[in-house]
Amino acid sequence: MSILQAAIIGCGNISKYHVEGIRMAGSNVSHVCDTNLAAAEAVSKQTGARFTDDHRKVLDDQTIDVVHIVVNSNLHRKFCIEALEAGKHVICEKTLSESAADSQAIIASARENGRMLFTSYMKRYIPSVVQAKKLLEGTGRVISARFFTRQMWGNLWNGVPKDDFFKVGKDGKSEVVKRYGGGILHCGGSHILDLVCYLLGLPESVRAYQVRPDYLDYDVKTSATLTLGALDIQFEALAHPLPYSGLLGDGWDEGFEIIGTKGRLLWKSSLWDDVVSKSSVLVHERNNGETNTYQYHPVSPFALAIKAFHEDIRNGVQSVQGPDTGYHVDRLIETMIASATAGRTETLAW
Ligand SMILES: NC(=O)c1ccc[n+]([C@@H]2O[C@H](COP(=O)([O-])OP(=O)(O)OC[C@H]3O[C@@H](n4cnc5c(N)ncnc54)[C@H](O)[C@@H]3O)[C@@H](O)[C@H]2O)c1
Repeated sequence: MSILQAAIIGCGNISKYHVEGIRMAGSNVSHVCDTNLAAAEAVSKQTGARFTDDHRKVLDDQTIDVVHIVVNSNLHRKFCIEALEAGKHVICEKTLSESAADSQAIIASARENGRMLFTSYMKRYIPSVVQAKKLLEGTGRVISARFFTRQMWGNLWNGVPKDDFFKVGKDGKSEVVKRYGGGILHCGGSHILDLVCYLLGLPESVRAYQVRPDYLDYDVKTSATLTLGALDIQFEALAHPLPYSGLLGDGWDEGFEIIGTKGRLLWKSSLWDDVVSKSSVLVHERNNGETNTYQYHPVSPFALAIKAFHEDIRNGVQSVQGPDTGYHVDRLIETMIASATAGRTETLAW
């Protein structure tokens, strides 16, 4: 088996999951970059990788096979395209970019340069989600579906928040928008939209509603009805102040419920950033009276996603996830905002 040489651009919070994933894939972390050189050096110390504050040095490094883009989302378009043009395969953190048009430009570049592109929507790889996908085949015709993420962001509902991360700064932008491109729809909702696409398919219409307080530059709630054929899918992304809600009573309340003519699937997720001690739960109720509960040993879904993509690179065929996954979510996000702003249903032709 050939060992892939991987580079990471962006050595902030999320980079540790990429380091772990690259190792689990049997690949090497061989070059890391951050404009904050101390952050790059810290990752270099753990991995033995070369480090730099200039991303061009990473892209000019002929030994690198795959680049992990883990910088703020407003840099994703530029860095993905530069990396693809430099002949690298690319895995990019979500959201793929900050608009559907930018995501299409990235996909076009991947195609033109004959390289693989993967958006790090890792929740598809959570073992209980993979099991739900398998069980869906025997669940009959889907007649009801709801997907939700409700995250404890403190109280953003009663006026300007105290937390610097959430309040709008002197430059007119909050840190959450600068880093992640938006509020709860971009941060949490994007993952759940990816699960809708993965489990049920691409929605054909959207009617969305948003709560965007006038003292914030992002949404604290986005809800929507998405349709797919005769099925309506209920969606909700909510930033809330309830510290003890959710599966483990830690403020993280995320999941889906899919009802088919032959049974019901109920998935409840654990907090995404503790992949070592917490695990999600899937309950499957069948019409014959059997109920099965699936809970697996906790494992990092980032690592499972990265391992799957690196395997594809080694095999020369992109099979685990198409290059357009990130575009699908970015287009849905954009369409939801357009629907909520205009107050009407928007249709989607894919
Ligand atoms: N998959 C998930 O569940 C998940 C969760 C949180 C964040 N994310 C995504 O991960 C990405 C990174 O988020 P984060 O929380 O690690 O952010 P972060 O701010 O902690 O880290 C980003 C890093 O990029 C560096 N950087 C900025 N400009 C750069 C440049 N020009 N060249 C090199 N480095 C540069 C910064 O110095 C910083 O260290 C974002 O796209 C975010 O949306 C994904």
